[in-house]
Amino acid sequence: MIKFLNLGLQPLANSYLKKKNLNHKEKKFKLEVAFNKKNYLVSIVNTVPKEKMFNNMYPYKSSESKTMRKSFKDLTTKVKKRFKPNFIIEIGSNDGVFMKNFNKKNIVGVEPCKNLAKLTKNINYTTYSEYWSMKLARKITINKKAELIYSANTLSHIKSLNEIFRAINYSLSEKGVLILEDPSLLKCIKNVAYDQFYCEHIYVFSTIALKNILNNFDLEIFDVQNTTTHGGSNRYFIKKKINKLYTIKKSVKNEIKKELKFGLNKISTYKIFADKVKKSKIKLLNIFQKLKKKKLNIIGYGATAKSCTVLNYCKIGNKFIDYFYDTTSYKINRYLPGSKILIKKYKKLNKKNIDVVFLGAWNFKDEIFKKEKNFIKKGGKFIIHVPSPKII
Ligand code: TMP
Repeated sequence: MIKFLNLGLQPLANSYLKKKNLNHKEKKFKLEVAFNKKNYLVSIVNTVPKEKMFNNMYPYKSSESKTMRKSFKDLTTKVKKRFKPNFIIEIGSNDGVFMKNFNKKNIVGVEPCKNLAKLTKNINYTTYSEYWSMKLARKITINKKAELIYSANTLSHIKSLNEIFRAINYSLSEKGVLILEDPSLLKCIKNVAYDQFYCEHIYVFSTIALKNILNNFDLEIFDVQNTTTHGGSNRYFIKKKINKLYTIKKSVKNEIKKELKFGLNKISTYKIFADKVKKSKIKLLNIFQKLKKKKLNIIGYGATAKSCTVLNYCKIGNKFIDYFYDTTSYKINRYLPGSKILIKKYKKLNKKNIDVVFLGAWNFKDEIFKKEKNFIKKGGKFIIHVPSPKII
């Protein structure tokens, strides 16, 4: 493993602070990112125990955003038509945003965050409130294998890829399909979206890395689609090598070609990226300093886990950002970890008391700009830090 990026000491991205704990010392870890020359995998170097991140207080709910609801609904329609699955397992079912589009008889969820698992259990969807493992795979599929295994924005959070894929291999029927969806490394590197790296994102996958890993488990990608969620993701369609029902589509070769052309197989590409990250930090700080000199009111929008990386890496605190707006009930009246900026209940942006907004949830830019069109019309501005910090 070759380290190429150092994002400094970081708190746990989703550990929002209560006011009474503001003076407590926060647990921090060194956020460094590395490249594996052998299999091309990009991962963070120091990991945090999973129980500290995925427990009964997980704040993120996929259903909160219109973009995500629509993305999952559209996928469901396509999946039903293309694969007609009768038995589905979803790994990381969150609040049921994907699961609820299927009949209760046809799908089971796996969700270790108990507060989320409760939400789908309460509406009678079978949900295992456990971490995905070989033991759980045996429990769920001892008698009947899954025709479809789906997992979005979850496998990149699990350290032991060996355990994940062994268990998937066990649970997937011979003719079954595995669909994985995660942020794309190509997009992340191209967009200088260094905030894709935080404690929960242990890996940001490229197609070339995933292909190498899957190969060890007799699995292969037969189709890949680029999606716009989470700042640019890939949806991989995977099968067992012995399954001859599906031929490998051109999309796989094309995606691999794009990644190799960009140099995702070379350390030099990541070193250039790390250089751009350093420049991005300087530029972002300059923007904040200039705006503050003009005594403008700056707030944040979307207190995301990604914001945690940016704010702590760039050392942007409440001197620059008065508070954040967020729609997630759990986050409201808490403080962002590290930077300790207050999170307030979302209100429509008003030009009367807000001049500039730092877009923490830049991955929902279109949805947010639509919602805030009046603010924009009246001259309200946004700071966006990807691909390069600017005011728009
Ligand atoms: P994510 O980038 O990790 O998906 O998190 C998105 C965060 O942004 C989540 O806390 C909800 C928040 N958000 C808003 O506050 N308003 C919005 O309109 C959208 C789309 C997201």
